[in-house]
Amino acid sequence: MQREKWGSKIGFILAAAGSAIGLGNIWKFPYIAGANGGAAFVFLYLISIILIGVPVLFAEILIGRTTNRNPVGAFKKLSNGSPFWTSIGGLGVLAGFLILSYYAVVAGWAVGYVVEAARGVFYDFPTPDAAGRHFNALIGNVYWIVGYFALFMAITMAFVLFGVQKGIEKGSKIMMPILFILLIVLVVRGLTLDGASEGMRFLWNPDWSKVTGQTILLALGQAFFTLSLGMGAMLTYGSYMSKKDNIPISGLEIVALDTAIAILAGIAIFTAVFATGQSPNAGPGLIFHTLPVVFTKMPGGYIFSILFFILLTIAAVTSAISLLEVITAYFVDEKGWHRKKAVMIFGGITFLLGLPSALSYNVMADFRIFGLNFFDFIDFISANILLPVGGLFISIFVAYFWGFDKAIPNLKQGAENLFDKNHWLESYWKVFLKFFAPVLILIVLLSSIGII
Ligand code: PHE
Repeated sequence: MQREKWGSKIGFILAAAGSAIGLGNIWKFPYIAGANGGAAFVFLYLISIILIGVPVLFAEILIGRTTNRNPVGAFKKLSNGSPFWTSIGGLGVLAGFLILSYYAVVAGWAVGYVVEAARGVFYDFPTPDAAGRHFNALIGNVYWIVGYFALFMAITMAFVLFGVQKGIEKGSKIMMPILFILLIVLVVRGLTLDGASEGMRFLWNPDWSKVTGQTILLALGQAFFTLSLGMGAMLTYGSYMSKKDNIPISGLEIVALDTAIAILAGIAIFTAVFATGQSPNAGPGLIFHTLPVVFTKMPGGYIFSILFFILLTIAAVTSAISLLEVITAYFVDEKGWHRKKAVMIFGGITFLLGLPSALSYNVMADFRIFGLNFFDFIDFISANILLPVGGLFISIFVAYFWGFDKAIPNLKQGAENLFDKNHWLESYWKVFLKFFAPVLILIVLLSSIGII
């Protein structure tokens, strides 16, 4: 059977941007920035993107495009079957499972909030307290949280079932432009609220006293998470790419879109949070506590609230698809399974794995691992440990094992002109992948586990 390919260049960019842009931008970035000093965190996050995110992104797409394989198959092929490097690919597939398992729980909240919005519930929230109580009551309800989690998994599985072009690419082409337009509308609304400037100040004036080693780790973890790096999602999407496409340009477009959306989401949310007198450090519930109050006060809030949560769902779906696609591609490429079988079985297993995360907000609320509930624990392990570890090995692999003498000619394919005109590009990529990325990731990782 012929392996699938993207139908067009823009199809790849929108699908990859769809993977990158997700809950990480609209849900996670604002609440982590909110709890970690605002602008100071944003600064560290942007630095991590430029120093580490961009070079690792090029490397991942390149490994995928060169091998036309899933992460396991790709490392196996390029390392001539080395068990160590093959298992690094396996680590990516594992991280995909873990991330999807709790990601889909939060995405389920977004789906559930579409229904809440349509019921007109958000007309009734004059204060953040009321909205917060409503949110806590919903996630405290096992049937609500598990039901929407299951529904979201079913939606994600449906897209992946239809395959690369008909499911992933087509879906991204329709959904991404709508997401962008709606976010702009919300930014404009946020900026025109009384008291919006306080939110802007929070986002742009750094409070360095809040920055610790842990903050740097979070910023790095967020850079990996938001760009879908370190677990083979971009590698897998790169594997459906044509050799004629330009990796650096596509990569930069993806980074630019993703960063712009995160900043815009930050503006939309913090202006609203401060204008309505709420605290920026509400944690994972932040947008679910704050936005309902904004919608209550906004003309046309009923419609905007429905659209916003539909679009939050869309952003989450296009990312969840890429997580499930990594697992699916592995079983299709390596084990010769039918796409349908892989999607059904591993969608189901991911659901089971996600149950304790869903229950972390109700029946398992008192269950703690290293002081964290199950949901936060899986989030921490996957986003802040497994993704940077994956990124570390990807950069070491390209720089020291596969080698630039093989990697560079492949990277130049489809980008000959760009490299001819910009000689610095080759050196930037080499130096950052060889030294900055691995050394910085290692330092951050070691300090996070208390070794240095
Ligand atoms: N990048 C996605 C987001 O920001 C999350 C994700 C991480 C998707 C890793 C795929 C792989 O929401």
